[in-house]
Amino acid sequence: MEVVICDDDREVGHVAAAQIAHVVEDRGPSVVLGVATGSSPMSTYAALAELVDAGRLDLSHAQAFALDEYVGLPKGHPQSYHSFIQRHVVGPLHLNPHRVHVPDGTASDLEQACIDYELAMAAAGGVDVQILGVGSNGHIGFNEPSSSLSSRTRLKTLTRRTREDNQRFFPTLDAVPTHCLTQGLGTILDARSVVLVASGEHKADAVAAIVEGPVTARRPGSVLQFHRFATIVVDEAAASKLELADYYRQVSEAKPLVPTSTS
Ligand code: F6R
Repeated sequence: MEVVICDDDREVGHVAAAQIAHVVEDRGPSVVLGVATGSSPMSTYAALAELVDAGRLDLSHAQAFALDEYVGLPKGHPQSYHSFIQRHVVGPLHLNPHRVHVPDGTASDLEQACIDYELAMAAAGGVDVQILGVGSNGHIGFNEPSSSLSSRTRLKTLTRRTREDNQRFFPTLDAVPTHCLTQGLGTILDARSVVLVASGEHKADAVAAIVEGPVTARRPGSVLQFHRFATIVVDEAAASKLELADYYRQVSEAKPLVPTSTS
């Protein structure tokens, strides 16, 4: 794993966006992006939007696949991930909405919706660069602790902790959905490269666990230690519990950030 420690969340966004832009350059205009929701990738989307607005990045032919979706929220609900992706990704990055996919959490057959999602990702040729956040319990996507490390897109039950973490977007805890559809850990590992972003002290334990802890279903993001091209971009606060922080800084200073190879 390449760990990049930044001064603040704004820099996290710029470093992550530079990595992603390099993959786009490498793969060409029909690049396939994996997109996360939540607070963590907001600075990355803002930095990518700056590149798009400056004419330095063209994503109009890109495809995108979201990581997850709540079950039971209508697509038009302001807190559905479908809405989030429209608002914060499709619009600002000028993506073609017809090439952007989100799991269907309203499907009458959720199991089939998950199978269809995996097939659509395969038909697109797989994800070139997957953007990730990490939950305070170490989840990536909504792969909660105890998830199979080789899981595929499926229905999951959200932990109380995740629902409490996400309560800030809903009027009450009861209003937070209890279930979701999420890409599995095996699905995420299939991406040709991954860029995980995290900012703030509340992410420090999770970041230390997934980067330096044992690979364990107890901390699902730790499975990224198996990925050949995983970049972890964190601010000082999120890096504060990394035992090898000085070493990561030394590596970053010794060589300019080497763009992730996607070959
Ligand atoms: C979002 C997702 C989750 C979030 C994680 C962190 O699509 O899959 O893993 O990345 O819950 O959320 P924030 O960034 O809101 O702290």
